[in-house]
Amino acid sequence: MIAKLRPAGMDRGERMVLVLIASALGCVVLSLTFGALGALAYMPAASETLLEGGVSLAQLRPLHTTFASAWLFLAAAAGAYAYLNTEFGETTAGDAWRFRIQMVLWGLAGLGAIFTLPFGIVSGREYLALHPALSLMIWVGWALFCWTFISKVRREFFARPVYVYMWSVGMLFFLWTFAEGHAYLLPWMKQRPLADLQVQWKSCGTLVASFNQMVYAGLLYIGVQKSGDESLGHSRSAFALFGIGLLNSFTNYVHHTYHLPQAEFLKWISFVVSMLEVIILVIVIKEVVQALRAKSLAGVAIFDASTSLFGLAKSWNMCLLFLALLISIPPLNTLIHGTHVVMAHSMGSELAIDSYILLGSFAFILGSLFPDPKVGEALIHAPRVQSSIRFLNVFLVCLVVLLVVEGLTIGITRYLGSPAPEWLIAFPPFFLVFGLGVAFFFLRLIVCWLPLMLAPAAFRNRSSIHSN
Ligand code: HEM
Repeated sequence: MIAKLRPAGMDRGERMVLVLIASALGCVVLSLTFGALGALAYMPAASETLLEGGVSLAQLRPLHTTFASAWLFLAAAAGAYAYLNTEFGETTAGDAWRFRIQMVLWGLAGLGAIFTLPFGIVSGREYLALHPALSLMIWVGWALFCWTFISKVRREFFARPVYVYMWSVGMLFFLWTFAEGHAYLLPWMKQRPLADLQVQWKSCGTLVASFNQMVYAGLLYIGVQKSGDESLGHSRSAFALFGIGLLNSFTNYVHHTYHLPQAEFLKWISFVVSMLEVIILVIVIKEVVQALRAKSLAGVAIFDASTSLFGLAKSWNMCLLFLALLISIPPLNTLIHGTHVVMAHSMGSELAIDSYILLGSFAFILGSLFPDPKVGEALIHAPRVQSSIRFLNVFLVCLVVLLVVEGLTIGITRYLGSPAPEWLIAFPPFFLVFGLGVAFFFLRLIVCWLPLMLAPAAFRNRSSIHSN
């Protein structure tokens, strides 16, 4: 694949960005496939067949969530490399070497995940399921990525736009947090289960905050590049988002440790900080979308995948904020704990906020790698892309509503001590249909962009679009 990504006219930095985009999309294809199989495992008959073949939901779940996380981190890294390439020009030989080693290490870790997780070689930890040897490969690859990024942005660091702070902090946070998440390997920790739980959730909270910072950075960077409005990168709300995101990285773990002994006021701090972050994020996305719309009104009024996906992410953010507010209220939190309402919140946020923003960023980055307007019309912002986004979103609304309704019903009946209502037997088939709908239209969108990754040289050449 990498060998094919050597089109004439593309410099080394651009090829690196394209390799990262292709790798991120590869991870999301794997995640969607494992997710779809997981949804199938909810159907009793299909589950039996899967079990006969030695496949269970317990094996599919960590594969699905591991590759979903890989998708988010790789996609965010693609945005950072796109920035380096635009801002600092041609990459050095050292950058290229680090990039190669980093991609080989991450690729080996990915292969390792596929060959270990299904065989039960797991850490047993939520979101950090991999064997520590694979984690080490990810960590070293990430350290090389940080080296390249920080060595370039460190000069005049404090004069740079806020998205550079976000990327830098997000990357360094990852190094610290990912290592901290493996503290369970220390013999000292093994003897202290309560401290183990506290450190585990503290590190998971910061890990989420680290990719959030990187996703926000990508959003702002693309917003500035696409609209030409530099003020977005220095605005008060963007800095507020950076500050509150930073603060939240230290407090958001409390949402997951309600069941551990801790002071009541900590819960309130965590609740207020998280809600503030979501509200400020809505304001920032609104500013970006407004700047993009102002630009497209001044230019050609055709469908634009980035503007559309950012706009959808903003609406989802408001809906999911409402859900997050509700489930953070302690009695309601107790009611829905361990039900599908939590999945609606976590999977919904990763799909409808993070993935939409990252896909929107890809649409812009691909547009700058393949600047021919005909490539944009025929592939990047094609009518097929528009319809895929529309249907993906419709199925996602149905999926999230279904998960909330089912989870809430289970929570209430569990509280009342009564059996689950009979109509809930309809949940698995609906879950399967809506989940497959989401997976299908997500994949359809990727297929629209696939030619750019399989034959980039052809599309870099302005005249070749008609022959494809
Ligand atoms: C990029 C898209 C996706 C992302 C980022 C994502 C992310 C996640 C996350 C974070 C979880 C853990 C939820 C929790 O327990 O709190 C999860 C679980 C799951 N997801 Fe996804 N997901 C995606 C797409 C899908 C699709 C399309 C399907 C179905 C076809 C699916 C099926 C599942 C299943 C079956 C589980 C496990 C549920 C259980 O434990 O019972 N996911 N996903």
